Amino acid sequence: MIRARITGTGSYVPDKVATNFDLEKFIDTSDEWIRTRTGIVERHLVVEGENTSDLATRAAQRALEMAGVAPTEIDLIIVGTITGDYPWPATACIVQSNLGAVNAGAYDVSAACSGFLYALAAGADRIAAGNARKVLVIGAEVLSRILDWSDRNTCVLFGDGAGAVVLEACEGDQGILSSHLYADGSQLELLYQPGFGTRITPSAEAIARGDHYLKMQGNEVFKVAVRSMAEVAKIALDANGMTTEDVNLFIPHQANIRILDATAKRIGLRDDQVYVNVDRFGNTSGATIPIALDEVNRAGRLKRGDILLLDAFGGGFTWASALVRW
Ligand code: ACO
Repeated sequence: MIRARITGTGSYVPDKVATNFDLEKFIDTSDEWIRTRTGIVERHLVVEGENTSDLATRAAQRALEMAGVAPTEIDLIIVGTITGDYPWPATACIVQSNLGAVNAGAYDVSAACSGFLYALAAGADRIAAGNARKVLVIGAEVLSRILDWSDRNTCVLFGDGAGAVVLEACEGDQGILSSHLYADGSQLELLYQPGFGTRITPSAEAIARGDHYLKMQGNEVFKVAVRSMAEVAKIALDANGMTTEDVNLFIPHQANIRILDATAKRIGLRDDQVYVNVDRFGNTSGATIPIALDEVNRAGRLKRGDILLLDAFGGGFTWASALVRW
């Protein structure tokens, strides 16, 4: 049986760091409020001239270098993002050009915070079907450009960054064991960006209303996120005949510490099984899981055969899990 195995990881965050104390200077918030409600201490933000494709390209280069794979060997590039450089074409095409991946197809996946896991599933399935040998999967976001920096309910939560993995076809027991994807579009207005698609086009009125900013009803999102992430994690374990005892590391989407804690508790995972870095990066949407994966990998925390449970929830709503044997 052919499976997709992760042979390289990479990540990149902008140099600029904004601490909670920095935010205190221009909105009515406090380090104490942000820390206790979200677990976030600081986040990285782009500066003028830095774009999603730049972060994605840097993360991809690091993943390729680790895998020892040349850009010309890549068959497909998939970028999970809701903050692409342009509405279209795909940011993946810009990354393809930056890398010189001249033999690769390229497209974006729009599944918000679940974008990386949706992209990972697509890449892994294409490999398992025998249609690709080497796939680059990236999660990259510049959320800071769609935030209303005068809205304390949202702007404190997010950060910018990118993470990437190289998937390669392999035989044996390692690799992506399963992926599960779900969605519920009936509640999209709890977390979305109203403008500017074809429904709300740019106008002075729309800009004055702030339609180009991310909108969120945090309390509602919180409840659905915990329930959905717990459910899809259990589905992943059941599908593989495993239990929480088999999980060496749970790498959830880093939305905020209270969502992570509540989800882990609901699944029945111990604290030492859960990876957390939301304190240093905030919520980077589709980039949180590959950034975390790259951190644990480069820290030497992963051993051959380890079982990793990846789990995400985001706008759409979308939610997803993947079970990986390292
Ligand atoms: N600083 C200070 N006070 C604030 C801030 C802030 N940054 N933001 C909100 N407040 C105030 C509110 O105005 C409110 O004041 P009021 O009682 O006078 O009206 C008070 O704090 C409580 O607000 P709540 O929204 O009830 O605060 P809550 O404890 O629910 O925490 C939070 C808000 C952190 C957004 C929470 O609902 C949450 O974690 N939701 C999940 C949302 C999320 O993480 N979304 C990310 C995208 S989805 C995903 O990635 C899964």
